[in-house]
This record gives sequence, structure tokens and C-alpha cells, in this order.
Amino acid sequence: MRPLLTLAAAALAVLARITPAATPTAPPAQGEQAGRSGPLPSLAEAYRGQFLVGASVSPGQVIVGDTYRFIRRQFDVITPENDLKPLLLARTEGSYDFRMADQVVDWARKNGVKVRGHCLVWHQQAAPWMFTKDGKPVSRELLIERMRKYIHDVVGHYQGKIWAWDVVNEAFAPGDPKVDTERGWRRSEWYQIIGPEYVELAFRFAHEADPDALLFYNDYDTENPAKRDLIVALVRDLQKKGVPIHGIGHQAHLYLSRPAPAQLEDTIKAVARLGLRNHVTELDVSLRERDGAPLDGDEDELLSRQASRYADFFRMFRRNRERIEAVVLWGITDEMSWHPLEEPLLFSEMEPKPAFWAVVDEAARPLQ
Ligand code: XIL
Repeated sequence: MRPLLTLAAAALAVLARITPAATPTAPPAQGEQAGRSGPLPSLAEAYRGQFLVGASVSPGQVIVGDTYRFIRRQFDVITPENDLKPLLLARTEGSYDFRMADQVVDWARKNGVKVRGHCLVWHQQAAPWMFTKDGKPVSRELLIERMRKYIHDVVGHYQGKIWAWDVVNEAFAPGDPKVDTERGWRRSEWYQIIGPEYVELAFRFAHEADPDALLFYNDYDTENPAKRDLIVALVRDLQKKGVPIHGIGHQAHLYLSRPAPAQLEDTIKAVARLGLRNHVTELDVSLRERDGAPLDGDEDELLSRQASRYADFFRMFRRNRERIEAVVLWGITDEMSWHPLEEPLLFSEMEPKPAFWAVVDEAARPLQ
């Protein structure tokens, strides 16, 4: 974790350069194209009437005036990138530290920005104490009780303040040789101790704690047909049992060459046919191979391929705007991204990249 103040100060310093009031006639910044002068357009405004646009944020970004003005102008939705995960909220049993997450949620409420809560039940960044008692693996009953209490406490704390929760994250990993699975289910501690019913229990507990919150199942690679089938089967099962589920979150961590927009579109349509909402929850486009290896090509060429990929996906999202409610980017600026070497976002050092302009331009293009 970077120290908050350094992070905030860095963001502040670079933001000063793109705040419209500060630089109305500034020369085009690096990465901008000719003719891009004047105030920076707002992504949220560009897509108003189509779908909401958002980004994940850290508390450091909303406590500094210039950064938060930037976020408020650019985005309709924010997701605290880490601060609502059990590892950060509940270091020991029965005690919570809501201070960081509260800063983001309170800021969002004051500024009329919606919050996606991420995430309640995941195999990573979980609270390790939940899975053991007296040094031994916990019983099924006790883990269910701990999950119930955690979800009631956290969702209850934010009742009426969090728009949508990612209740369960990444339960499936079909065909992934690196992941221990059973019939496509990731054999996480949740799965091994409780069994697949952990998903329906989590959704029921979340609904009890905030009946008005939208409840999502969230995953990566949702365009993978095997994962699509598992998600569809899960939703049908939950619906049959009367378990509240309102949407599917597509992380959409994309690469330059894969997947094709049409593959993700198929899943988005399948979700809509089930009567559920689609949120794109963690969008970014890596400039590297999936294993992190650098790609051939000079930086300008890669940046322009990235811009086309963003445009292609936003075109697909626009075609499906009746089916998609929100598109959330996983961060704002490359340097603070979860994978800085992949340069996956729309800004670098808070300067708009070619991908930013491609997304803005796409918003108003005719759809044939
Ligand atoms: C990532 C954060 O971006 C990192 O800062 C953190 O170290 C690990 O988690 N899928 C998810 C997100 O659902 O919660 C992950 O976020 C990225 C992958």
C-alpha cells in the first residue's frame, strides 16, 4: 500500500494540470491529439442516458479537494478498491474498522455519487480468523454463523448508503489448471467448509441486512462459455429457491487481443434474459500479455491499439445499453492501478491517454 499522503499529493499535483479552471488554454498534453483543447470532457456526462460510468477509488483520492472534484465530475459511481474487503474491515473477530470505507461512502453520499460495495465473500482478502477456531478448521455451522454476522454487521452499517453489493466474488474457475475446482466451483475455504450453498446463504444474509441494496454475483472472464453456463445455472437455481439476486458483475479485465467484444456480449444478453442487471465492474485493458510479459510494438502503437479496444468495448456496451446499467473502471490513472506496468487505464499521471479520447468520442457516434 502506498502511503495515503504521498498518493494524494501526487494526485493533487498532476490534477492541477488538468483541472479546467486551472488550464483552459493549456497546450495539448502528451497523449492528447490536436484540437483537444478546452475543458476536459466528463465521461459520466458523455454517457448520460446510456449507462452510468464509474471508477474504483482509494480514500486518499476523496480527501484531497482537487482529486475529489475531478472524481465527482468524471464519475457517477465509485467502488472503494480495497476498503470494503473483510481483510481491511475486520482484522479480528467482532471488531470493525470502518474509518477508511466511511470516508469514501460519506463523500459519495454528500456528492450524489453511487457506491458499489466490493465485496463480502471472496477467497482473497478474506478475514483469516473466520476459518479457524483454536487453531483448527472451523465447523460448517460456525463459519455460516460468522458469515451471517459479518454480512449483517457490514451491510447493516451501510444500510441505505450502498447502492449495490458484490455479495460473492469469483466462485467459479472452470477449466483453469491453476485453480483447484470441483464441477467448475473454486474449492475455496467457503466452498470446502460450507459447500456450494455458501452462495445462497450470503445473498440471503445480505438481503436481510439491507432489503433495498442491489445484490450481485461478480466474476472475471465472464465471457468464457463454461463460466457463463455456471453463472446462468447458479442464477436459475437461486431464482427457483426465491433467493434475492439482482445482477451479474463482469470484471472485464481485458487484453489487447482477447476476448472479442461479441463474447462478452453473449454473456450480457444471457444475463438480461434471466431478468438480471449487468454491471461492468472492474474494466481495464492491459498493454501486456496475460502472464505479464511485455508485448512487441512501440508505446504509441500500443496506446493506439488500447484506444481502439476501449472504443470497441464501449460500442458493444452502447449497443446493449438497455441491458447494462453501469460501467466501472478499475482505477483512474495507470500509476495507481493494481497493475501499473500494464498501463491499463484511461489516464497516465492524470493526463488523458488516447483511450480516454476514444471512449469520449465513442459516446456520441451513430450506432448502426
Ligand atoms: C485488487 C486491488 O485492485 C488491489 O489493490 C489488491 O491488492 C488486490 O485486489 N478482482 C477483484 C478485485 O475482484 O477486488 C481485485 O482488486 C482485482 C481482481
